[in-house]
Amino acid sequence: MEDRAGALLDELFDISGKVIVLTGAGGVLCGSLARGLAALGAQVALLDLRPEAARVVADEITQQGGQALAVATDVLSIEALNMAAEQVLNRFGTVDALINGAGGNHPQATTTPETSLFDLPPEAFQRALGLNVMGTLLPVQVFGRIMAEHGHGDIINITSIIATRPLTNVPAYSAGKAAAKNLTEWLAVHVSQHYGHQIRVNALAPGFFMTNQNRFLLIDEATGQPTPRGQKIIEHTPLGRYGEPEELLPAVIWLLSPHSGFVHGATIVIDGGFSVYSGV
Ligand SMILES: NC(=O)c1ccc[n+]([C@@H]2O[C@H](COP(=O)([O-])OP(=O)(O)OC[C@H]3O[C@@H](n4cnc5c(N)ncnc54)[C@H](O)[C@@H]3O)[C@@H](O)[C@H]2O)c1
Repeated sequence: MEDRAGALLDELFDISGKVIVLTGAGGVLCGSLARGLAALGAQVALLDLRPEAARVVADEITQQGGQALAVATDVLSIEALNMAAEQVLNRFGTVDALINGAGGNHPQATTTPETSLFDLPPEAFQRALGLNVMGTLLPVQVFGRIMAEHGHGDIINITSIIATRPLTNVPAYSAGKAAAKNLTEWLAVHVSQHYGHQIRVNALAPGFFMTNQNRFLLIDEATGQPTPRGQKIIEHTPLGRYGEPEELLPAVIWLLSPHSGFVHGATIVIDGGFSVYSGV
């Protein structure tokens, strides 16, 4: 019985051999996803603006016997992405899935006691907005084309819970994630109408995960104690903690599996209940 259950689970969620491209894979969340997917037998291409960071993850995977390729790329450049795609195809021969994880805020696109709404530098706002929405669209244009040619594929965009309720002080990042969620929904309809029913587009919306990007917004660097903002987040999260990067993996495995085959255009929220808590 146990063997049968195990075999059924293996069959349901087998991702071994799949070629999965992850952008932002030198970062915390997609680095963790790449490790997890490779451990399950996927062949992972780790794209990042910081090739050295992607290489660290790729080397770790290779040392454990997995298949990984680190590729330097800028998700805001079609030329760079085309070159990355060439490297991926040379190494793995195809692309089965794309996980769009490159994203984030720009420090100057944040309101502070010193920088009011009226003084926010438009260039910084544009950079954060652009990274999160154009940085999602352009990889889809390059890797989605390969999927359209092959007639199948999975695209998973990493948006955020701030896509539906913006975060105080971070307007451009919030707007960029809102646009990325909306783009996910548009893409789901469009690819089905034009490129067949074997390409699915979905998104993950993580809540608060402790990563390098937000560490010192959440923890006071000098004392190691939660900042007032960090304290507020924990109090507003029914599960009372930050997410662990590994906690995104099961949702990704499910979204990549044919057994989520009717899930399309969806945004899967993984936030410890943050976004359903009214505060009362
Ligand atoms: N950490 C969280 O709590 C959280 C919550 C919700 C959503 N997210 C989203 O999840 C994704 C991953 O976040 P993370 O916390 O791992 O951040 P991270 O900063 O650790 O990783 C982001 C990676 O993207 C890369 N990158 C940035 N600009 C790029 C570009 N132009 N081209 C290629 N690569 C580029 C960076 O070099 C970095 O390695 C991001 O889209 C982020 O917005 C994070």
